[in-house]
Amino acid sequence: MIDKFITDEKAELKIGGKVYHLPIIVGKKGEKAIDIRSLRAESGYITLDSGFMNTGACGSEITYLDGEKGILNYRGYSIEDLAEHCSFVEVAYLLIHGHLPSVTELGGFSEQLNRHSLIHEDMVHFFDGFPSNAAPMSILSSMANSLCNFYPETTNPLETFDITAARLISKIRTIAAFSYKKGIGYPLVYPRYNLSYCANFLNMMFDSTVKPYLIDDVVVDALNKLLILHGDHEQNCSTSTVRMVGSARGNIYASISAGISALWGPLHGGANQLVMEMLENILADGGKYRKYIDKAKNPKDPFRLVGFGHRVYKSHDPRSRIIKKTCDDVLKAMGMAGDPLLDIAKEIEEVVLNDSYFVERNLYPNVDFYSGIIYRAIGIPTDMFTVMFAIGRLPGWIAHWKEMWDDPDSKIGRPRQIYVGPRKRKFVPLEERR
Ligand code: CMC
Repeated sequence: MIDKFITDEKAELKIGGKVYHLPIIVGKKGEKAIDIRSLRAESGYITLDSGFMNTGACGSEITYLDGEKGILNYRGYSIEDLAEHCSFVEVAYLLIHGHLPSVTELGGFSEQLNRHSLIHEDMVHFFDGFPSNAAPMSILSSMANSLCNFYPETTNPLETFDITAARLISKIRTIAAFSYKKGIGYPLVYPRYNLSYCANFLNMMFDSTVKPYLIDDVVVDALNKLLILHGDHEQNCSTSTVRMVGSARGNIYASISAGISALWGPLHGGANQLVMEMLENILADGGKYRKYIDKAKNPKDPFRLVGFGHRVYKSHDPRSRIIKKTCDDVLKAMGMAGDPLLDIAKEIEEVVLNDSYFVERNLYPNVDFYSGIIYRAIGIPTDMFTVMFAIGRLPGWIAHWKEMWDDPDSKIGRPRQIYVGPRKRKFVPLEERR
């Protein structure tokens, strides 16, 4: 796919008097890259870029992100428009199929999501094997991987891709809600045919025979927005993991399971849970947030102000602005406008945005800073915040997996390294080793 964007322009790299001419690639939005794919074969040199700070891994048509300007578009549509006007299911369709669905296409997709919302009853027994305090992300990644045994792909997974995508989106939501009910020892609530995707999830989470759950449109709307905002974020850690696993032509369930595991980390999706724990600690500490800001600024202290900073956004994270507004709206509608955690969060943001340490390092609130306050308000337990992120990111992972499979230029992911270990060691038999 990317080869179509190679220009006639060349970069010159001079090593030891010899000049290498490297093709220049220019993307649709004018992003420039130097194509080094032939460099090692021609010169013997590799390029070193730990953490992939400046490495393009592929061409992609899914998401455009401008970190300097704070722009995020899915398939050409601004995140602001999509969050304002669409449901999560519409955006999932957009990410996966490349265009916004017509009424008929949306109806067909919703019907597929409904049809595939149950998990095989044998899988329900898996939950019994986990301790009741098991981390929901570990359950989710294990169950996602197990799906391949119940719904195997054909030899050409693209033939059944549409059904597999719908299965994943629908069943991951069911698994997430079931894991919560199992964790608290309550009977499972099965998905209902007549509820929207988000309403169904909330109902599976919170309905019970003791107290029926009243579905509130404000909450459903907020959940739609949160999931949309998490839908895709180009080559982040978990998406790159999905592509990496898929590049070995592994099945999609294994790739998604690996993505869930990657997302779990505290520097990635796990940050939303840590933000809430941090805010709760600050509240329990009498609201003394300045102490925590000082800790975050101290180079000798590993503590970081979670919910701030981003590898790519260097002005603001457009998602955090929408989430902050949604947070205000939801809390107001639920009669929780004076939530002390929200007040602390806003005060921290205010101080940080005017503190030279954070300003000089371009550290702004990210997507995780306010999302937890909304999740908490709607009753999602803290240890399920990252699961919510995974449900939202799922269509993005699926879209990237498909794009990679479709791309004739895609190769197995296999970075190089610079070996820095011992040169050569003389073998010592076990009995002579000390
Ligand atoms: N609090 C205090 N200092 C920070 C923070 C923070 N949250 N984030 C970065 N820094 C400092 C860091 O110490 C370093 O300072 P110095 O130059 O003096 O050594 C500088 O800013 C650059 O940090 P970095 O770690 O080199 O930046 P990165 O691009 O590798 O990391 C990040 C990005 C998101 C991992 C990082 O900002 C971070 O750890 N943030 C807190 C965790 C968090 O909120 N993660 C969610 C990210 S958004 C959702 C997602 O993508 O999943």
